[in-house]
Formats: sequence, structure tokens, C-alpha cells
Amino acid sequence: MREKRSQFGSKLGMIAAAAGSAVGLGNIWRFPSETADGGGAIFILVYIFCILLFGVPLMVAEFLLGRSSRANAAGAFHKLAAGTQWKWVGRVGVLSGFVILGFYMVVCGWTLDYFFQSITGNIVNATDFGAHFSSLLDNKIKQILLMLVFLLLTAYFIYAGVQKGIESSAKVMMPLLFLLLIVMSIRAMTLNGAGEGLAFLFKPNLAEVKSTVFIDAMGQAFFSLSLGMGCMLTYASYFNKETNLIKTSIQVSILDTIVALMAGIIIFSSAFALTNNTDTIVSELVAGGPGLLFITIPDLFNQMPGSAIWSSLFFLLLAIAALTSTISLMEVVTAYLLEEYKMTRKRALQYIVSGVFVLGVFSAISSGFFNFLDIISAKFMMPIGGLFISLFVGWYLDKKIIQVEITNDGSLRFGIGFLKAYSFILKFLAPAGILVIFLYGLLG
Ligand code: TRP
Repeated sequence: MREKRSQFGSKLGMIAAAAGSAVGLGNIWRFPSETADGGGAIFILVYIFCILLFGVPLMVAEFLLGRSSRANAAGAFHKLAAGTQWKWVGRVGVLSGFVILGFYMVVCGWTLDYFFQSITGNIVNATDFGAHFSSLLDNKIKQILLMLVFLLLTAYFIYAGVQKGIESSAKVMMPLLFLLLIVMSIRAMTLNGAGEGLAFLFKPNLAEVKSTVFIDAMGQAFFSLSLGMGCMLTYASYFNKETNLIKTSIQVSILDTIVALMAGIIIFSSAFALTNNTDTIVSELVAGGPGLLFITIPDLFNQMPGSAIWSSLFFLLLAIAALTSTISLMEVVTAYLLEEYKMTRKRALQYIVSGVFVLGVFSAISSGFFNFLDIISAKFMMPIGGLFISLFVGWYLDKKIIQVEITNDGSLRFGIGFLKAYSFILKFLAPAGILVIFLYGLLG
């Protein structure tokens, strides 16, 4: 007897969940600083090019693996390539879910702290934001507790299940996130002097373009779209058979890019409007990292009327974006334990929460460990995972499965030329591109 597998209940919920996974700290923290570093509009153009050429095809690849196998990241390879070693691609994906959670959760904890500090008004009274942030970093116990709160919050939604937890929370959180983004973009763009920031963001500055722009943009595209470790694969295993995979991957990519651009607008407009030293602010933006979100941004908001409100809204937005991403990461591991080890959700979560907690404690205590987890996941596990997923679908997988999944068994019309072009991208273009990022990661 096969247990009935969960599916998303509505199209809106499915899009909200997938977009929720994609939209995260990568959009609000990583994208603006990569853009500042990469010369503004040029970086954005290359980024969009990478999304179209590598991001969308790879997302479709994960989608079709998930939906055709209706299994978790490792189970999908078991089913589609029984008796081969391909299952390791999925297993490494599950492991990277664990590893990413191990440091991402700590940053999520900081987000909660800044949200609480904003609503209680402590942030408004701060004068030295650098000192404020270091005092949080020095307070290990506080970081661990906050991380645990975020971890349990994520587990709470996973425990509720695919429809009642993941889908219904995404349906509430994603519209709220968009609302907050719109309000904050309008506020930021109407600040006196915002135009300079917008010009920096949208005017191509050829003098600033770096030789690494292509590689940087591609890495950002993979991270931002949650690709390379079976996250989109796991969500797609809950899609129903009417879901148009090509259209969905385009919609998710567009939503993700819009959020990144809006975050860029908020950060650049306020950065240029609220400072009289543009050189310093540009270098702070480029330096990015935790400093941008937790030092520069609150400092900027503090100079605006109603700063407590704006900084509360901003950190609420950040927490929501991060939560829908941690939910998707945790579901990758949960689905694996559920199906491969026949555990109940509750039992699986006991293991996951304990495991992530241990990794999180080490990340909170040691910045070396934090960076180690960040680097092995982003620079090693994800690119290798993406490379093998692309090779698997391009070279190994039966063409019939690709065709059935993309056309929904013939009911959607995608010509043979389209399928050929798609196959060419997965066979050659995407693997070659990813290999370049990977080698760059090794050398850089
Ligand atoms: N995409 C998310 C962000 O932009 C992070 C994320 C969620 C992720 N799931 C992932 C990154 C899977 C890599 C792989 O913050």
C-alpha cells in the first residue's frame, strides 16, 4: 500500500511557496552589494541574462525531476536511475540543505533581534550601530536562543505539513512581503536625493565593470533561485499534473528578480539620500556582508522621520523572506527522512532540529565555522549539485520524460525545436557555465 503523497492545493499557493523559497536573504542582502560591487546596471543586465540562460533551464530541470518522480531529492534519483550512483547527487543535496541551515539560521536569529529591538525602540536610541552589532555578536547565548526560536518557528510550519504549513504560510507571508516592499520602495524613492542612488543602480557604469562580473552574476543567480541542491525538486514533487513547469519557473524567476530590484531600490535610494558622503556609502554597500544589513541600514533609517516604524518594517520583511526560505530548506531534509527512512514528520523534525541546532551553536560561537559552512555549501556543494543535475537531465534521463513533463503529456504546445534547444542548454551550456563558477570558487 502506498501512502498518498501531499500536493499543493492551489496554483497561488504553489507559486507563493516556490517564490518564497527563492526570495530570501540572497535578494535583500546579497543582491544589492553584488550590484554595487559589479558596477550597477551592467551587473543587473548580466544577472538577468544568467537567470534566463542558466537559472530558468536549471529550475525546469529540478521541477521535472521532482514531478516525474514524486519523491524527495535522493529518492528522485533512486527512482529515475535505479541501481546507479546518481543517488549521491540527491544525498549531497540533502546534506547541503543541512549545512546551509546551519549558518543561515544564525543570520535569521539576528534578524529577529533587530526586529524586536526596532519595535521596542532600542534601535532608535542607538548611536553607534557598529557597536550595537558587535555586542550582539559577542552575546553568544542570545544568538543561540534567537537562532533556536527561528529554528522552532520553521519546524512548526514543516510539522503542519505541505498544504497546512508550507502552502498556507506562504500564501500569507508572500503578499505581506510584497506589500512591505512596495511601501518601503515608495518611501525610499521619495526621500530627498534618492535620484542619485537610483542613477547609481540603473545607469550603466562601464568604468566599474569587473572581469568577474559574469561569474559573480551566475553565482548570485543560482543562490537566489535556490538551485543546485534539490530544493526546487522537492517542491515540484508536490506540484499537480496541470502545473506548467516552464511558465512556473519563469514566474518564480520574475518574482525573485523583482524583489531583488526592489531591495536594491530601497537600499540605494536611502543610502544616497541619507548620507552626504557618497564615497563611504558606496564602499559600505560594496563591502556588503552582515555589516550592510545590520549596521548601515539601521543607521540610515535612524536619520529618517519615523525611524522606529521603518526599521521595524524592514526587519519584519527580512525575517519573513528568510522564513519562507528556511522552510523550503528544511522540507528538503524532512521529505528525505520521511520517505527514505519511513519516519513520521515529528520524528524527522526531532532529528533535524537537533542537528541544525548543533551546527547553529557552532556557527554562533565561531565565525570560522560559520564561514566554513557558508563556503562549502555555496562554493562547493551547490555548484557541483547543479552541474550534476544538469548533466543528469541532459544526458541520462529519458527524453520521453522531459517531453511529457514539459508539455504535460502533450496538452501544452512546445515545439520540437524548443525541446532541442532546452536539451542543448542542459547538455553543454549550463554544465560549462557552472564548471567555470566552480573553478573560480576554488581559485578565488
Ligand atoms: N534562495 C534563498 C535566498 O535567496 C536561499 C535558499 C533557499 C537557497 N533554498 C535554497 C539557496 C537552496 C541555495 C539552495 O536567500
